[in-house]
Amino acid sequence: MGSSALLAAVLAGVFLSITVIQADDLDDRSDEKLLCICENDKGTCNNGTCRGDNCFYSWLSGREERGCFSEKHRREQCSSSLKNLFVHCCKGNKCNAFITPPPNINGEPTTTSPELPRPELWISVSLLLLFTTVCVCAFVLFMRFRHAHCRLKDPEDHSAAMIKVPNGDDPAYGDIFDEFCTSGSGTGLPYLVQRTMARQISLVECVGKGRYGEVWRGTWMGESVAVKIFSSRDEQSWFRETEIYNTVQLRHDNILGFIASDMTSKNSSTQLWLVTHFHELGSLYDFLQYSSLEPESCLRMCLSVACGLVHLHTEIVSSQEKPAIAHRDLKSRNILVKRNGQCCIADLGLAVIHSQSHDYLDVGNNPRVGTKRYMAPEVLDETIRVDVFESYKQTDIWALGLVFWEITRRTIVNGIVEEYRPPFFDLVPTDPSFEEMKKVVCVDQQRPSLHNRLHSHPILSTIVKIMKECWYQNPTARLTALRVRKTLSKMDIDSDFSVEKLKRDT
Ligand code: ADE
Repeated sequence: MGSSALLAAVLAGVFLSITVIQADDLDDRSDEKLLCICENDKGTCNNGTCRGDNCFYSWLSGREERGCFSEKHRREQCSSSLKNLFVHCCKGNKCNAFITPPPNINGEPTTTSPELPRPELWISVSLLLLFTTVCVCAFVLFMRFRHAHCRLKDPEDHSAAMIKVPNGDDPAYGDIFDEFCTSGSGTGLPYLVQRTMARQISLVECVGKGRYGEVWRGTWMGESVAVKIFSSRDEQSWFRETEIYNTVQLRHDNILGFIASDMTSKNSSTQLWLVTHFHELGSLYDFLQYSSLEPESCLRMCLSVACGLVHLHTEIVSSQEKPAIAHRDLKSRNILVKRNGQCCIADLGLAVIHSQSHDYLDVGNNPRVGTKRYMAPEVLDETIRVDVFESYKQTDIWALGLVFWEITRRTIVNGIVEEYRPPFFDLVPTDPSFEEMKKVVCVDQQRPSLHNRLHSHPILSTIVKIMKECWYQNPTARLTALRVRKTLSKMDIDSDFSVEKLKRDT
């Protein structure tokens, strides 16, 4: 309330002053003349006042005069080259009332109020003041929304117990941006705000490093944010991700929340930052290294990834329209684990965009390719139809099956759980080559092995079935993300794990 009142007061003040200045300005130009103090012996005064375009005060060898004159005489009336003559002109009602000669004329003191500068100057200064005030107030408002959302956040998240991690979901800043996103057609913060925010971030600790660059935990206004600093060779990923987040309405619980993008020049090299929500549990890959899951938690995670993928893959044709997006590098390292046991999909640097309604397919121009270990057979044998958007969705589904496989390995059934391993760990070496992957996936048509225990649990056996249908050699035979989501959420519609429950939790 305080800051709104402040905002209203400041704005009102600024508008008022502008109005007054403009009114004065109009006054000067109107037919109505100024009222001036008139003191002279020329008989031009009327009850000590007169009307004219200008008021003046003059001092000539100790003799003072006050009065008015018209605009056309201003030039000659208002200048003095004589040592013993002081003339002061002004525009404003009775502005000549208290003018006295300056002290350097016979030691006379002065309380001269200077003539107001030109109205144009006042208006420019006031507009500048208004602009500055609006910026300050926008910032105050922005901070206010941030705190309001912090307060509104439900601190209790019951489902978090399932994976035995602390309560809560998104960080408190998660909804700050709704104000910008839902008002008007914008998809996030204005660029100037993004840049300003990014430059207020303090980097705290590096939480990830790779070919892509580094990920840092930073703080902005005391809250954690994730800062991905792109390596210069991966600048196309930064451009692509920035473009997508800024043009597509992507706010979804299972898509990593975007905050800002920033490009700066440091020691003549370019720094590319992508600022997002910070998820302290890190990537799904990291999480699975040290955590095992109950089947329900496994389902929750799989379902949340499927929900994120459905959102990406779906074109929305309405006022909140959104093109369809295929990820092209889905893997456990590009999925983050949230405190409520759901996941969100990150890294849109390789994504392709498609709109049927607007008839375009935008594959971008990133020289990067997906991660070889997760490449679908048609990518490895290069039979993929690169001009057909569906092809890219089908490669995402292949990778989705592999992610489910990684999650299910870490799921406890009948007291048995497997160690974390990446897909095809037993068939290819670390950092496999394209040819090594192609041999396994296309030539030998191998698939990840599935432990027997998984068949004995209703949730896990359903997920196993889904996985197998994500791994068909023929891409068109694979399930769609929507079908995966529906099957998972139908699994126990009365339990806590339906899509509706997931939605309600967030
Ligand atoms: N690692 C990569 N991105 C991250 C994020 N947004 N939060 C936490 N760890 C991350």
